[in-house]
Order: sequence, then structure tokens, then C-alpha cells
Amino acid sequence: VNKKTQYVIGFSQCVGSDLWRKTMLDEMKMELSLHPGADFVYADAEGNSKKQIIQVKNMLEHGIDLLIISPNEAQPLTEIVEQTYNKGIPVIVIDRKTASSLYTAYVGADNYQLGKMAGEYAGTILKGQVNLIEIMGLPGSSPAIERDRGFIDGIKKFSNINIRDKIYGDWLKKNAKEQLLNIKNKLPGTGAVFAHNDVMAAGAREVLNSLKLPRNIKVIGIDALPGTGGGLELVSDKVLDASLLYPTGGKEAIVTAFHILNKEAFSRDNILQSLVIDSTNVQLMKVQWNKINSQQKDIEKQKSLLEEQEAVYNSQQVILNIIVIT
Ligand code: FRU
Repeated sequence: VNKKTQYVIGFSQCVGSDLWRKTMLDEMKMELSLHPGADFVYADAEGNSKKQIIQVKNMLEHGIDLLIISPNEAQPLTEIVEQTYNKGIPVIVIDRKTASSLYTAYVGADNYQLGKMAGEYAGTILKGQVNLIEIMGLPGSSPAIERDRGFIDGIKKFSNINIRDKIYGDWLKKNAKEQLLNIKNKLPGTGAVFAHNDVMAAGAREVLNSLKLPRNIKVIGIDALPGTGGGLELVSDKVLDASLLYPTGGKEAIVTAFHILNKEAFSRDNILQSLVIDSTNVQLMKVQWNKINSQQKDIEKQKSLLEEQEAVYNSQQVILNIIVIT
């Protein structure tokens, strides 16, 4: 059956290679499969803001009806997103933001609140005078700015916590480890590390272990992804003491995209909920995720069975046509 393509949705991703963003894309594809007739144009800027601008321009030339974008850095991507919006093409900003309020909808958790929650959580588990190191994301990316602001506000009322150092890990494990090793003389006497994501937090634990520093140094991250190598596993394996759930919003972005395209009601701010995962609830979270995952597999199985039947039906129709003609 040749269905005419109804809409073209462009998705400009800042970095495509990590588990969190692969999960986001999987969620999008799953939701897209429920909307046959839409074309999906995907581009991965590989962490390069200039490349991302060019990719968005290419999408505009190609002709898209809606843009979903996770801007690598806020400032550099602002102009092209504003231009897109001003052309009348709806823009859904996901996870990371630009420096402008010219967008149609936002999907993602509130990164300021996430940072604040992390700070308040640190305040409740850290006793006595504690020196803490904060490993931030990429400078100029909106979640790094907002998580940092929130964290500072969150620990404000805990005068026993002192931020000894702040470093940038650019969201990457490798960079976080390098930066941490640069200040390794400050690590003895550190009681806690807060990293803006789990991969950097896991990198911090590796550095602490390699320097034979105490195992009871608390390490807190963000993302709490399910599955192999994800934050849930890191918390349950005690690599991390805690992680805050940061939903990818992949599904919600596609749902919102179709609301906008179909001229239905939608919310401009789609704020996804977070929570702290630590040893008290990590098993529950894993059980829940396994259940969802197995249901998801059932759905996929049913879908491919339906497709097989449809193919058989279509081929039978062809045979029928031939019979009628001859
Ligand atoms: C993935 C990631 C996540 C983080 C988010 C912030 O690329 O680094 O770990 O929560 O981006 O935008």
C-alpha cells in the first residue's frame, strides 16, 4: 500500500552516540511507528554546534513541517532556531534549550529543579563537614547551567557542605576523568562528588578507585537509565550512591509533534518528572523497568506478526488481481 507521506519531521540531535540519546531515539521511533505516513529526518551533530547549525539549514532546504531539536550549546543555536520558528515551522526543543523563548514547545525535565533536588539530597546524606567536587556538563549547554544553579540553591541551607572545586566534564566520561586527575592533589579529603550525569559520575568513581581513595566517598549522578551500563545498574552495583531520573522525553516529543501538526491542543511546557534513585528504591525501579521492557517486546512481536499478515494479504490480492485480469 502506498500511503502518501503526510508530514516530514526533522530531528536535530546534539550528540547521538551515548546511551541516553540512543534511548531517546528508540522512544521516538516507537512512537513514530504508531503514525504511519510521517517521514522522519534525523541528523547527529556529534557534539559540534557549527555542524548542528548546518544540519538544521539542510533540513530546512529539504523541507520539514516541524523541527525537534536538542541544541548542543544554547547561544550558538539560538539564531537558527529563531529563524526556523519565524518561518512558521513549529519547533519542539527537547532536553537542552536555546537562549531564546521563540519555540513552540519544550519537552524535558526541569534542570534547575533537578540540580536543586540533587543538592537537597546531598544535604540529607552528608554528615559533618564535607568537601564536595562538582563535575559539570558542557559549558554553555543549558542543563549544565541550570543544574549548577539548582545545586547551589539546593545545598544553601546545609552549611556543612563546601564546594571545594568545580570542573567541566563536557558530559563525557573521558573528559571528566582527565579534569579530575588534573586536581588529584585535592581529592584526598573530598567527601562527595556530584556529577551532572551518570557517565561522568562513573568516571569519577573510577578515578577515586584508581587513586585508592576511600569507598565511602559519596558519588551522585543524573540520568538513571535502565538497561546494561545505565545508571540504575550503577546504583544497584554501588558504583554510584544515587542518581536522579532524567527522562529522555523521546515519546512525548513525538506525541507533541503530532498534536501540533494536526492542529490539536498541546502544552507549551511539557515538564517531565524526576526522582532520586538510591539503594532504597533501585530494585523496585529495576523490576518496574523489566516489566515495561517485556511488555514493549510483546507489542513489537504483535506488530511484526500483523505486518507479516498484511504482506500475505497483499500478495494474495495480487494473485487475485492476476486471476481477474486473465
Ligand atoms: C546525554 C547527556 C545526558 C545528560 C544530557 C544533558 O548526551 O549528556 O547524560 O543528562 O545529555 O543534556
